[in-house]
Amino acid sequence: MIILLLFPLLTSLALAIWPIPKEYKHGDTVLWISKDTSFEWAGAGDVGTLKVQPSRNFDFRTTSNAHVTIQVEGNRRRVKRYSEAPTGDEMIDQAIYSAKQTIFKKNFVPWKFHPRNWTEPSTENRTYISTVTVQVLQDDPEGIAKPLAGTVDESYALELSEGGNVSITANSSVGIVRGLVTFTQLFYKHSGGGGAYTPLAPVTIFDVPVFQHRGINLDVARNYFSIKDIERTIDAAAYNKMNRFHLHVTDAQSWPLEIPALPELSAKGAYRPGLTYTPDDFANLQYYASMQGVELITEIDMPGHTSSIALSHPELIAAYNIQPDWDTYCAEPPCGTLKLNSTKVTDFLQQLFNDLLPRVLPFSSYFHTGGDEVNKNAYLKDDSVNSSEPAILQPLMQKFIDSNHDQVRAAGLTPIVWEEMLLDWNLTLGADVVVQSWQSDKALAQIVAKGHKALAGNYNYWYLDCGKGQWLNIDPSISASSYPYEDYCAPFHNWRLAYAYDPLASVPNDAHHLVLGGEAHMWAEQTDPINLDRMIWPRGSAVAEVLWSGAKDAQGRNRSQIDAAPRLSEMRERLVARGIGAEPIQMPYCTMEGMVCQLGYQP
Ligand SMILES: *[C@@H]1O[C@H](CO)[C@@H](O)[C@H](O)[C@H]1NC(C)=O
Ligand SMILES: *[C@@H]1O[C@H](CO)[C@@H](O)[C@H](O)[C@H]1NC(C)=O
Ligand SMILES: *[C@@H]1O[C@H](CO)[C@@H](O)[C@H](O)[C@H]1NC(C)=O
Ligand SMILES: *[C@@H]1O[C@H](CO)[C@@H](O)[C@H](O)[C@H]1NC(C)=O
Ligand SMILES: *[C@@H]1O[C@H](CO)[C@@H](O)[C@H](O)[C@H]1NC(C)=O
Ligand SMILES: *[C@@H]1O[C@H](CO)[C@@H](O)[C@H](O)[C@H]1NC(C)=O
Ligand SMILES: *[C@@H]1O[C@H](CO)[C@@H](O)[C@H](O)[C@H]1NC(C)=O
Ligand SMILES: *[C@@H]1O[C@H](CO)[C@@H](O)[C@H](O)[C@H]1NC(C)=O
Repeated sequence: MIILLLFPLLTSLALAIWPIPKEYKHGDTVLWISKDTSFEWAGAGDVGTLKVQPSRNFDFRTTSNAHVTIQVEGNRRRVKRYSEAPTGDEMIDQAIYSAKQTIFKKNFVPWKFHPRNWTEPSTENRTYISTVTVQVLQDDPEGIAKPLAGTVDESYALELSEGGNVSITANSSVGIVRGLVTFTQLFYKHSGGGGAYTPLAPVTIFDVPVFQHRGINLDVARNYFSIKDIERTIDAAAYNKMNRFHLHVTDAQSWPLEIPALPELSAKGAYRPGLTYTPDDFANLQYYASMQGVELITEIDMPGHTSSIALSHPELIAAYNIQPDWDTYCAEPPCGTLKLNSTKVTDFLQQLFNDLLPRVLPFSSYFHTGGDEVNKNAYLKDDSVNSSEPAILQPLMQKFIDSNHDQVRAAGLTPIVWEEMLLDWNLTLGADVVVQSWQSDKALAQIVAKGHKALAGNYNYWYLDCGKGQWLNIDPSISASSYPYEDYCAPFHNWRLAYAYDPLASVPNDAHHLVLGGEAHMWAEQTDPINLDRMIWPRGSAVAEVLWSGAKDAQGRNRSQIDAAPRLSEMRERLVARGIGAEPIQMPYCTMEGMVCQLGYQP
């Protein structure tokens, strides 16, 4: 017998699901889910094969040993290193496991989204969801876990019937991964230890992302982050349906990435022995991301932002650590740039690429060669050129990037660069090169006007490091002119600002297709593991919704904060339940009482 427990809609502000699906209809019947609910799935070609998920009690698991090198250390066998990205089947297997973990172990009681006198659904006469059927409708394209933008269909359809049948269908395994994330967001924990329920049945969802590239960029060079910190951030990104994780892995201040062919780089360039990423760490991190449908994109920023190389290879770096007038030669101390006309640099980069790119290829289609904030004055101190003249430097820079990108392509990867290479250095870039914009919407428009694919991420909106104040100490003789010590991109960019940013605002309609998406940026001068979570979340979620759902609603209007705020507050609770220290965006009073904490309201 089907029992319908009705919820007065007015008291249910929790409407779940972040980012908002393209089409979403729900009712108000309560259904429960049990740990015994079976998840059944069949891939294209083997419909009918039932794969029932066994229960597990650890968090992230290996679905098979197929891609793992097992190393025997003494009498201890331990999983050593993933050598290949997961298959679609493995991704779905993990996603089902993870969905159960989320619903049963990482859930929350939604009291903050109901008035004080709210009563939870009765635990009597429960109707349980019987089965969750997962179906991939087509064969996955090759490289499902490491796609080029646009090659994987991430759409999914989710039906949850009033009678307790659930079906999730998608054209790819990644679509199923996204659908299962949505599925978990329909459920709440019951405070009586009574399990998990959804108050929203029946549910019908069809969902598809607006942008193909939806990412977080994390700088792990200004501060060191452990693998656990990075994995936690990837989890949060995946839970926001982001599909790219950009690892800005080296910079002027430290070189934490171990390069076996050039061990001195991290031996001398890391902040401290041990504050490095071993080849195993690096492989496993890439695997960890790809398992959740998140492609990790590695950036070695060059030729600027490379001073940490000088600690092991002083002969390669010009203008190293110039003091006290560093600001003439670089954007941040310590200054230093790869020499621009040096065969030693060419040889070094060849060794670096030969070592690193084959370790990227199993997990990604991209490699980011950086190229931001190259300071021309630094080349006055470069004995291979002795000049800051654009006319002299530009052809050398063209040669530099051509040689780098040829190697990236030869390794089977597609290059990404920062906008300056195209817009300030006027370089001719291959048509395959993706150009990442950060300085302005005008820059974004210029990139696509030149026919390049582009990533948005205007620092005025999507730099999450901004507004903390200076990290530079200002001498008393000039401190008055710097008072009150704002940083260059102040003020702090709150979630509403991040949410209001439309990556397409400056781009003509006929070039929209060239904007692959964008990234929120977490530069780490003032961020370390202690404040990482709250610096990114939930502002990163605001970015995620813009990138998944678009900056405009179905009527073409700017998305409403009034609609978004309660859902974002709820997403924040879900992130917290996952162990992510996301900040609150409003006090409970606002989310409990509905339409009270706002200015203006137009339904
Ligand atoms: C909760 O309180 C509100 C306002 O005081 C009232 O209108 C509503 O009927 C109450 N609901 C319940 C379930 O007691
Ligand atoms: C549960 O079912 C029993 C028997 O049909 C009925 O007496 C009781 O009122 C129901 N409880 C609720 C909360 O609906
Ligand atoms: C799958 O592909 C078909 C055909 O292109 C399309 O109509 C549908 O919207 C896609 N997504 C889902 C979830 O079926
Ligand atoms: C639920 O699914 C089962 C098995 O697939 C099927 O027999 C049953 O008719 C479905 N019920 C509804 C209400 O769709
Ligand atoms: C640059 O200047 C140094 C020192 O004067 C000199 O040794 C070097 O040959 C010069 N390099 C070029 C390319 O002119
Ligand atoms: C680059 O280096 C070569 C060989 O040392 C030198 O002949 C040439 O003048 C340099 N080019 C520039 C622009 O300094
Ligand atoms: C690129 O072109 C702009 C505009 O023509 C010019 O100002 C700039 O100096 C050029 N940059 C280089 C490195 O040649
Ligand atoms: C919509 O947002 C854009 C920024 O993306 C802003 O320029 C514009 O004024 C907003 N329009 C309205 C009607 O609020």
